This record gives sequence, structure tokens and C-alpha cells, in this order.
Amino acid sequence: NVLILDFGSQYTQLIARRVRELNIFCEIKPYNKLPDDLSAYGAVILSGSPFSVRAEDAPHPDLSKIKGKKPILAICYGAQYLAHFHGGNVAPSNTREYGRARLTTIKNDEPFFYEISESSQVWMSHSDTIKELPTGAVRLASTSDVENAAYRIDGEQTFGIQFHPEVYHTIQGKQVLENFLVHIAGLKQTWTPDAFAETTVNELREKIGNQKVILGLSGGVDSTVAAVLLHKAIGKHLHCIFVNNGLLRKNEFTDVLEQYKGMGLNVKGVDASARFLDALAGEDDPERKRKIIGRVFIEVFDDESHLVEDAQWLGQGTIYPDVIESVSATGGPSATIKSHHNVGGLPDFMKLKVVEPLKMLFKDEVRRVGASLGIADERLGRHPFPGPGLAIRILGDITREKVAILQEVDAIFIDGLREWGLYDKVWQAGAMLLPVNSVGVMGDERTYEKCVALRAVESTDGMTADWVNLPYEFLQKTSNEIINKVPGVNRVVYDISSKPPATIEWE
Ligand code: XMP
Repeated sequence: NVLILDFGSQYTQLIARRVRELNIFCEIKPYNKLPDDLSAYGAVILSGSPFSVRAEDAPHPDLSKIKGKKPILAICYGAQYLAHFHGGNVAPSNTREYGRARLTTIKNDEPFFYEISESSQVWMSHSDTIKELPTGAVRLASTSDVENAAYRIDGEQTFGIQFHPEVYHTIQGKQVLENFLVHIAGLKQTWTPDAFAETTVNELREKIGNQKVILGLSGGVDSTVAAVLLHKAIGKHLHCIFVNNGLLRKNEFTDVLEQYKGMGLNVKGVDASARFLDALAGEDDPERKRKIIGRVFIEVFDDESHLVEDAQWLGQGTIYPDVIESVSATGGPSATIKSHHNVGGLPDFMKLKVVEPLKMLFKDEVRRVGASLGIADERLGRHPFPGPGLAIRILGDITREKVAILQEVDAIFIDGLREWGLYDKVWQAGAMLLPVNSVGVMGDERTYEKCVALRAVESTDGMTADWVNLPYEFLQKTSNEIINKVPGVNRVVYDISSKPPATIEWE
């Protein structure tokens, strides 16, 4: 197990993912929350930071419990921090030190640089530089602008590097991490999806015994993988609830319910469409729509969970990015752009104990664990779909007719992506129903009907996204099919905005 101490770098999660790609487990903790018990950690990585070590309010944690005692890899800020407080000197650099650089290893017989080629490309991003190394340090590498690009401290397993091994542009970054973690710290590469599934199932079985767990399925990857793990552990004691909020894709409720049953899950489908759509009637504000859907979902789920007698646990598909405590560089709260999670009051099911089998996994790891559990690729490769569903793709107020129109449009678009082999090249796609009518002509008749916008984006985490350059022929055919087959729609447009400044969903 590796401990990554986060000093607020934008790359911290990337470090964790690179370590996990080496099949080594790791956890991220904020720099000011160093665990008391460090016995589980075979190595520590110090992240970068937007701060300068010389700033008063910069992170200055006490590392005496780890320095010299555990193998340490200090990256960028981390390396400067060790230098600054252990006899070295860190000062503003007078040349630009961002982007590509070439590493000249001075000591290439060192295990740290095993298999690293001469003048390997590395990525720099810092404005301070280490002018003097800390006490007992040996320089291991330089670049043309950075004299002290890598060092180690004699008599310790402490290494400092100014470049970022976690980013893609550091070509041999993964090898550097492997050298440190495997060849120096001696960690075993045993963290595989199969091993994770096996240990997790055993742990869940032990933790839950024959108590009952309730879990809300959404059709998405996370809740599905969480359910399958729990099902393997406790079988029929897992009670899944799949709610139809009336805002799902066309046929999604029945299709997915069938699939779940085929997977042997004990799942109850609850069609609460009317309850959601009635509650939404007349509401046109995006945030209020989300709040209503959140509230009704909780009511429905609460009612259903009371029907499962003696349930003690609530299962959730929470994943690691949801739980990592982030170090805010500004200290201020970030603005709420969209409220994705709204919990009003404390419903009864919240009093259950919570079990979250995926809470240490990144999204791509959830997929790999899902594959090792035998879940169909079709389910694992599904595009993300927002909890409020089509409600936030129907601009303005929601009616049953509008939902039906959008379901048809969406189905033509998504089925088309699949047929053209484009579905897996797109991170997320969907259609928006706009609150405007426009004039058209069909046959000899004037029409005055709805306009839909198609959106397809590429992204890795939904935080930033770019529109996908879908083939013109595909767009042409899809547009024709939508206008010909879906009554009420006479115009189709394609959204070519990136995020930021636009968002993926239109509401
Ligand atoms: P935006 O529109 O913020 O979307 O660029 C980013 C990702 O989040 C999804 N999304 C939501 N998911 N509840 C959800 O569960 C919501 O209220 C919500 N709003 C947006 C969106 O589909 C995209 O994947």
C-alpha cells in the first residue's frame, strides 16, 4: 500500500491512477491528515502543489514520522519542500520551467533510473527551483534549465524529482514510478481486478453476515458493479431497487430490469413515473427540477426500503473521486454550477449503516472489476446518464408528450451511434429538446414544430469535454430519420460547444 500525501496539485489523482496501473494499491490523504498508524504503507509519495514552499501559508506538515523511515518519492513541490526544510535552498527560478525538458541522468547506474534512456523527455511545471540540495543529498539528474532535477538522500530511501512522472508527457514516467515502488521500496504488484473482487467479496461477507442490504440500481456502471459484488458476497440478502422516474431512455426501464434479473440479482422494479412527472408539472427552473427529482426519489426509495423487513445496510456505488478529500488551493468554497446531489432532510433509509464496496476505485478500475466479475461489456461501456435523466435535457417545463418525443429522438441518435460503430468513440451522447418552435415545410404543408439539439462529447471525467467531430454522413442520416420519424420535430441541430465554457447537459 502506498500513501500519497496531497499538497493540492491538480495532478494528485493522476499519480494515484499511475500507481494503480502498476497493480499497486494506493490512497490519497490531505497533507495535514497524516494517519497516526503508518504501518500499512510501504512507501510515501509527496505530490506537487500550487504553492511556493517559501510562502507563509504553504503546506508545511511535520514529516518526521516518515522521512528516513519509509521510502519517499517527493515530486515537484514535495522535492522542494524536503530541500527547503532540510538544509537546502529553494528560490524563484529565473528561466521558464514549464513543459517539455530532457533529462540528463548523472548517475545512470542508480536503480532509480533503471531503464531510463539518456535524454528522456520529462514534463516540468514549477516556478521555484532547488538552488541547493538538502543535507546529505546526491544529485541524480539535471535538465538544461534545472540543475537539480532529481536527487536522493544518502542513507535514506528518499528521492526528490522536479519533473512530473505522472503526466503523459513524461514519456518514461511510469518506469520511474515502477523503479521507485517495485525496485526500491520492494512493493508487490498484486493489486489486480480479480484480486480486488475476491478480497472485497470476502470482506463484505464477513462484515454483513446474513443481514440485509438495500441498494438502489440506476442502470449505470457503478451501481451495477457494486450490486454484483454484494450479490456474490451475500446472495439473496441483497435487495435491489430500480426506480423508473419516467425520465429514462426509451425502453430503458424494462430492458435493464430484464438484464439485472438475467444476472441473478434480486431486484424490484418500481414504476414511479407518475409520481415524478406530476411533481414536476409546470416547473421550468433547472435547479428546482433537480431538487424535485431528488426529493421524490428519496420518498420513493424510503417507501420501498420500508418494505424490506429488518434491513440494516444501505449499499452504494460511491467511487473514489467522490470521497477523496481535496486540498483547496484557494481555501474558498467553489461555486455551485449545478447541484448534482440534493438531500433534503434525513429519510429513514439514511439511518442504515452504509456499505460502499467501490469507494477506493477510480471509474476505469470499476469497469475492469466489472469485467472480471463477468458483467457484459454493453453494461460496462454504457455512456454516463444523469440521475435527473431527460428532465435536464428538456429545456423548460416537462410534459409526458415532451418526454415521449425526446425518448424517440434519443433512441434514433444512440442506436445510430451503435450501428455506425461510433458509440464507444464517444464519452457521452444525448439529445436536448429545445423550448422553441420553428417554421418548416413538409410536403406542401407549413409546419411550426420543435427543434432538437444533438450532443456528443469526448471527456475522461466529465469535468472538461469537447464536442466530437461526428461524420457528416452520420449526422445527415440521423437528422433525416429524426425529422421523418418523430412527429412534432422539424429541425435538428448539432452542438459544437466545448466544456468549459458550455456544460455537457443543457440545464
Ligand atoms: P455538466 O452538464 O455539468 O455534466 O457538464 C457533467 C456530467 O455530469 C452529469 N450530470 C449529472 N449527473 N445528476 C447526475 O447524476 C445531475 O444533476 C447531473 N447534471 C449533470 C452529466 O450527464 C455529465 O456526465
